[in-house]
Amino acid sequence: MSQVTIESILQEKRLFHPSPEFSQKARIKSLDEYRQLYEKAKADPQTFWAELAEKELHWFQKWDTVLDWQPPFARWFVNGKINISYNCLDRHLATWRRNKAALIWEGEPGDSRTLTYAQLHREVCQFANVLKQLGVQKGDRVGIYMPMIPEAAIAMLACARIGAPHSVVFGGFSAEALRDRLIDAEAKLVVTADGGWRKDAIVPLKDQVDKALSNNTVPSVQNVLVIKRTGQTISMQPGRDHWWHDLQAGASAHCPAEPMDSEDMLFILYTSGSTGKPKGVVHTTGGYNLYTHMTTQWIFDLRDDDVYWCTADVGWITGHSYIVYGPLSNGATTLMYEGAPRPSNPGCFWDVIEKYGVNIFYTAPTAIRAFIKMGEHLPRARDLSSLRLLGTVGEPINPEAWMWYYKVIGGERCPIVDTWWQTETGGIMITPLPGAIPTKPGSATLPFPGILADVVDLEGNSVGTNEGGYLAVQHPWPGMMRTVYGDPDRFRRTYWEHIPPRDGHYTYFAGDGARRDEDGYFWVMGRVDDVINVAGHRLGTMEIESALVSHPAVAEAAVVGKPDELKGQDIVAFVTLEGNHSPSDALLKELKEHVVQEIGAIARPGEIRFADALPKTRSGKIMRRLLRSLAAGEEVSGDVSTLEDRSVLEKLRQGGA
Ligand code: WT7
Repeated sequence: MSQVTIESILQEKRLFHPSPEFSQKARIKSLDEYRQLYEKAKADPQTFWAELAEKELHWFQKWDTVLDWQPPFARWFVNGKINISYNCLDRHLATWRRNKAALIWEGEPGDSRTLTYAQLHREVCQFANVLKQLGVQKGDRVGIYMPMIPEAAIAMLACARIGAPHSVVFGGFSAEALRDRLIDAEAKLVVTADGGWRKDAIVPLKDQVDKALSNNTVPSVQNVLVIKRTGQTISMQPGRDHWWHDLQAGASAHCPAEPMDSEDMLFILYTSGSTGKPKGVVHTTGGYNLYTHMTTQWIFDLRDDDVYWCTADVGWITGHSYIVYGPLSNGATTLMYEGAPRPSNPGCFWDVIEKYGVNIFYTAPTAIRAFIKMGEHLPRARDLSSLRLLGTVGEPINPEAWMWYYKVIGGERCPIVDTWWQTETGGIMITPLPGAIPTKPGSATLPFPGILADVVDLEGNSVGTNEGGYLAVQHPWPGMMRTVYGDPDRFRRTYWEHIPPRDGHYTYFAGDGARRDEDGYFWVMGRVDDVINVAGHRLGTMEIESALVSHPAVAEAAVVGKPDELKGQDIVAFVTLEGNHSPSDALLKELKEHVVQEIGAIARPGEIRFADALPKTRSGKIMRRLLRSLAAGEEVSGDVSTLEDRSVLEKLRQGGA
C-alpha cells in the first residue's frame, strides 16, 4: 500500500477516546467490558456463541451440538432449524417495529421509497411465491444480477425464505464474468432488471444476461425474471423471460418461511483469489445469521431510532452482511442508495445524509480519499450533525484520510470503526467497539469477541510486537465460510495449509500481512498474495492475465498492483506480443477494452506496458517482485541472481519495448 507504510504506522501514536456520552449509551461501554467479553469468549467459545444464539435469534428448533469441528470443516448449531428471512422480517412484525422503516431507498434519478417491516415482509412473500411458481425449489441456486434497488434485497430475502441459495453477481461485472459464475453455481433462475443507473448512464443489465446465456452456454438457467427499472426497450425471450411486475401482481402474500437446517447453504458469493477462477465462497444459515447479527449490533452500536447507511453494493459481501442481513435481523432502518458520487453530483452522499438524518455511516477508504480531493466545501455545505458513528472497510485506511473523515465528516465527535474482514469471514473480525475501544488512525484495533486473531510466521508461531507477519485466526467462528462451492479441496489448500496444521490444530490464513503494536492493536498492511485491491475491489492478478492472453495479439502477460493515491492500488500489466503484432496506442486501448469485456470495468488496467520479454527465473517463473518494483517506479533492489536474462530487466527499466 502506498499510504500505509511501516514507518508511518510506527510513528502513529494518536489515540482517540469515545466521548463519555457515547460510551454511556453504547452497547459495550468500556474497555473493561470488552476485555471481559473477550476473555469469556476465549475461555469457552461454544457457550459464548450458544448464549447469544439463544437470546438473539428465533429458532424453529434448537440445535443439539453448538460446534462440530472437523478441521477445516465447521458446522455450527448442528440440527438447529432456523430461517434468516424469518429473523429479518417475521419476528419484528409481532412488535412495534411492524410499522418501522426497514428499508429506506434513494434512487439515482431522485426517486425514493420507504418500506416498513410489514411492507417488506409482504413484498418478500410475494416474490418468494413468484420464484416458487417458476419452479424454484429448496436447494436450487438463483443468480441475482441487479442494480441497487429494493428488489435486490427483496430477491435475496425471498430466496432465503424458501431455502434457495442466492448468488449475487455485482452489476458491474461483464457478461463473461456473469456467465462463469452462473455456470459454476448451476443457477436455475436469474433475477435481473432491464437496466441500472450508474453515474448518469444506463447499465444494460438484461442485455448482459442475454449475452451470458447466449448459445445455451448456461443450460441450467430455465427462467429469467426482469424488474423494470430504466424503461428502455429490451428483448424478452418467450418462455424464458418474465416481467416481474406481471407475476408479482398476482402472487399471494402468504408464504411461510421454510425451516432451514442451520448448516443449509444460504448463499454463494464469488471472490478472487491468487490462482484460478474466482471461487464460490459458501455461507450457511445459522452461524452467518448469528455472526452478522452480533457484529452489526455491537460494532454499529445500533439504537432503534437510528438511520443506518452502508454505501456498499449488494453485489459484495459488505452489502450482504451490512446492508441486508445484519441490520434487518436487528430490526434496524437500513438505507440503500442507488447513486454514487460523480462529476454532475459530487456532494450526493452528503445530501443523502442530510435528507434522511443518517446517524451511522459506513463507507470505504477509497471513497474518503475521493471526497478529500473533491473538497471540504461539499460536506461543509450540508448539515451532517445527525451522524454519531462512522465506519470504513475494504482496504487499509491511511492516517491522513482517517483524520479528515474524523474532523470534516464526523465533526470530531463520531468514533470511527475501521473494520477488517473478508468475503470469507462472513462478518467483521477486527474492529473497534465504538464505545469501548480507543482508536488510532490507521489501525483496525482489536478482534471481536470470539475471534482469536493473531499475527504469525509461516510455521504458525506468533511474531513479536511490531514485527510483520501473516494475519491468522486460531479458532472457528460462526460466520466463517464453510467451503468453496464444489471444491472442498481448494478450500483446504487456500486457507488452511499455508500454515501447516500441528497436532490437529488448524489456523485460518487470511492472505493479509499485519503487525501488532505494544497495545495489541492490529495494523493490516494489505495482501501478501497475488490479489490486488483496486478501490476496495478485490481482483486476482491471474484472472486479469487470463483475460489478456485470451486476446489473439497477446503472447504472455503479467499483472501487478502499483500504489495509487486514490484507489489504493492500480493495475499494471506487462505484456509481450505474438510475433506478427507490434505495440501501438490502438492496441493498448483495445487490450484495456478487452479486459473490461472479459471481467468488467473494475478490472480495466490503469497501465499496460509492452515488453520484449518478461523477467523469469531459471525455472521459468515470472519474477513479480521485480515487476512490482518497476511498476511503482522504484529501484529494483534485492536479489536478482535468479533472473535468467539480465538484459530483460535493463530493457524494462528503460521503459520497455
Ligand atoms: C480484503 C478482503 C469484507 C469487506 C470488503 C472487502 C482488505 C478489508 C480492511 C481493513 C485493511 C482491509 C484485506 C482483506 N480489507 N477491510 N479495514 N483494513 N484491509 O472484502 O473483497 O473479500 O476483500 O480486503 O486485504 O483481505 P473482500
